[in-house]
Amino acid sequence: MPKFNKILAIETSCDDTSVAVVDAKGFVISMEAANQDKDHALYGGIVPEIASRNHTYTLLPLVTRVIGKAKLQIKQIDGIAVTNRPGLIGALIVGITSAKSLAMSLNIPLIGVNHLEGHLLAPFLQDDTYTPPAEFDFPFLALAVSGGHTSLYIAHDLGKYEIIGRTKDDAAGEAFDKFAKILGFEFPGGVKIDQLSQGGDPEYFHFPRGMINDRSLDMSFSGMKSAGLRYIQSISEEEKNKNINSICASFQEAIVDTLVGKLDLAYKKYRLKSIVLTGGVSANSRLRSKTLDWANKRKLTLAVPPLRYCTDNAAMIGIAGIRRLNRGESSDMAMGPLPDYLKSDFINEY
Ligand code: KG4
Ligand code: ZN
Repeated sequence: MPKFNKILAIETSCDDTSVAVVDAKGFVISMEAANQDKDHALYGGIVPEIASRNHTYTLLPLVTRVIGKAKLQIKQIDGIAVTNRPGLIGALIVGITSAKSLAMSLNIPLIGVNHLEGHLLAPFLQDDTYTPPAEFDFPFLALAVSGGHTSLYIAHDLGKYEIIGRTKDDAAGEAFDKFAKILGFEFPGGVKIDQLSQGGDPEYFHFPRGMINDRSLDMSFSGMKSAGLRYIQSISEEEKNKNINSICASFQEAIVDTLVGKLDLAYKKYRLKSIVLTGGVSANSRLRSKTLDWANKRKLTLAVPPLRYCTDNAAMIGIAGIRRLNRGESSDMAMGPLPDYLKSDFINEY
């Protein structure tokens, strides 16, 4: 019987406020989140001070809601997990201070979690409609793609993560959002590009695939964004509007080709059979279908967690936290926020 059966998890590292109750098996008993996209859209990107302030308004009501939805009393919670790195300092402070206050008042252990470990463990989460594929397990190859990060990892085991490649400049989500902005869409515009791409011709215009012929597993998306800007400046408004679906489909194809190309290169190098696609950009329909086709062709087990566990969420922090608490770890009440990873978070320096 595990010592920790149900923990409360808090995620406030960026602009999403999320709270969840997760059990020792990684089952998500309840999860509630508050999205701030509208508040940041006006500025074309995330404003750290607005993010922190919104967390202070939304966090505690979410805790009350999530405990209620789980049909629990707060004293039935055995521990508190909170993202303490990396992230926006002000945003992290709100989550950490609340987590510490709850842990102290309930007299239960606290555990600080590396946000990226959460993303990597998300495929192991379960709920009424999702369970991981049967053969999926450590060691696995992971592609984490969001607005803030785009990296390839090997997850050898709990706490043993290796970075094997990453973007040298922009994240793939950032490239989607910047191109969307060039086209005049609101932040974050990735999903708009996905929608407009439906029915468009992905071969209409050839955008550069950054570092695709490079043998390393690193990636680059900033050249693609500049090429996008130059291309849009070179055509008329009329031409742009007429061919918007194909322009979006072509840009999307360049990003997806780069990501799936690097994933294949990583597979050829490490030959792992379990693969994870995660992060907010995994919502992209073309990335999902191309990655699935690739995995089927190579007879690999692909886990793509449902979107609610791919974007920033507290359940993934909960599974990382409860697994660590159950193997005897906990954090000190002096724990603070860190803008970056700890050296010990990854088994290699990158
Ligand atoms: O993981 P996430 O919710 O937040 C972080 O950045 O950490 O990822 C958000 C990113 C944004 O860049 C957004 O435009 C992108 O994911 N995104 C998409 C799609 N849905 C979200 N990009 C392309 N196609 C989509 N369907
Ligand atoms: Zn994230």
